[in-house]
Amino acid sequence: MFFIANWKSYLTGKEAGALLRAVIRWEKKNPFGKNLTVLIAAPTIVLPELNALVRQQKSKIKLAAQDIGLAASGAYTGNTTPTDLLANGVRYTLVGHSERRQYFKEDDTLVGVKVALAQTASIAPILCVGETKAERQSGRAKEVVRQQMKVIKDLPEIIAYEPRWAIGTGVPIAPADAEEMQEYILRQAGKTTTVCYGGSVTPENILSFVNLPSCGGVLVGGASTKFASLTKMLALLRPRGTK
Ligand code: PGA
Repeated sequence: MFFIANWKSYLTGKEAGALLRAVIRWEKKNPFGKNLTVLIAAPTIVLPELNALVRQQKSKIKLAAQDIGLAASGAYTGNTTPTDLLANGVRYTLVGHSERRQYFKEDDTLVGVKVALAQTASIAPILCVGETKAERQSGRAKEVVRQQMKVIKDLPEIIAYEPRWAIGTGVPIAPADAEEMQEYILRQAGKTTTVCYGGSVTPENILSFVNLPSCGGVLVGGASTKFASLTKMLALLRPRGTK
């Protein structure tokens, strides 16, 4: 079971450090179950500092990048290389998050290049897929998600299903609809894949998602950026660390 916190650009580096320190103090008293993997996806520039904290404090929290570049080295201004991520303790990265697709104009081809770059470097990509409201309403949700997966040569082991209209809106998908799509993703991708749900997950609704047979975890944005709601969700998942 994965708990993936996506801190986006909500926190300054200083705030992120303070939150991680507080969460690690909490973790010491409430160790994660052995099958619960807790990942924090933080801004790239903050990762070295968070990595130092995780190491010093011997925390089980793992770090993820929110995005990766498209080339291993060379003349690529603004590119984040796998080598630098690995050197800073980062072994996971989100790829194709809907905010990257929407605001940074990342298309399926670019997402495919990034997934492959991460895989070549043994960084686990977390491929984010999901449909817009209009696509769901017109009955095309599965087709859209299938297309987002089809362009990926070697599908990653972790896929996050995040309906775009449920992200940051406070309105998650109905668990039954999440189940239907996650089942579909598992059927398309094969059984070794873990599908996580993302989109307006909160302490109040997290169990309705992780209880779904198809659900291997959650990807949480807003509610993961505050100590109280973050630790509340981790506490709810503790007994489930065996899944
Ligand atoms: P949210 O974000 O939990 O704030 O809806 C989810 C995500 O974008 O990963």
